[in-house]
Amino acid sequence: MPVLAVNVDHVATLRQARMGIEPEPVTAAYMAEMAGATGIIVHLREDRRHIQDRDVELIKQTCNTRMHLEMAATEEMQGIALNIDPEFVCLVPEKREELTTEGGLNCVGREKELADYLAPLHDKGIRSSLFIDADPKQIEAASAAGTEFIEIHTGHYADAKEFNARNVELAKILDGIKLAQNLGLKVNLGHGLNYRNVLAFKDVPGIKEYSIGHAIMARAIYVGLDRAVRDMAEIIRTFVD
Ligand code: PXP
Repeated sequence: MPVLAVNVDHVATLRQARMGIEPEPVTAAYMAEMAGATGIIVHLREDRRHIQDRDVELIKQTCNTRMHLEMAATEEMQGIALNIDPEFVCLVPEKREELTTEGGLNCVGREKELADYLAPLHDKGIRSSLFIDADPKQIEAASAAGTEFIEIHTGHYADAKEFNARNVELAKILDGIKLAQNLGLKVNLGHGLNYRNVLAFKDVPGIKEYSIGHAIMARAIYVGLDRAVRDMAEIIRTFVD
């Protein structure tokens, strides 16, 4: 069964809005696991706008499933990952002015640089993923960089307003999944997925993980975190392996 990895960044967003002490992402991570999440994701941004170093440490110490650390491919983050030792790292592009991660990492022409960046992490037993667009050139480059996983960016599909545009984006993702799997990559999906648009992947075999944050936290405001995670876990449970 694919993993439902719940991103708890926005619990920290709410806390940081007042620079206060609540709500705690570590508590949300624990509750998400009790409600059926099989992975927890945190994105430690360079500007520390939501998740703080302390959150990463606490979640690493208490996580009962697997922790994914999303991060930019910087020296600082590499050092933090080596110190924290998460089960997975996912490299994402980062721009300070963006509201959220806006596109995939550029891997084309950076295959050796990325391979060198990942090498010490792999040596420590940390598994890697590269967050990329469903572009054949990026997928091939990610494969050449020696990552085990890619996470295909589903944001363009999720954001498309028109039926046709959405189908075009979906087709790119489905083609990308096949290409990646043929190259021996393991495929995760994430960004902008919600309780409706995720259903498009129900019959797509071989997806290892769905990485979902915003839609779950938004629903949690109305129905509570436990129910919001359970609702998503129930959907993912019906998906093919
Ligand atoms: N995957 C990556 C690489 C991300 O940067 C994010 C957003 O932090 C997500 C998945 C989750 O996206 P969303 O919050 O839209 O579910």
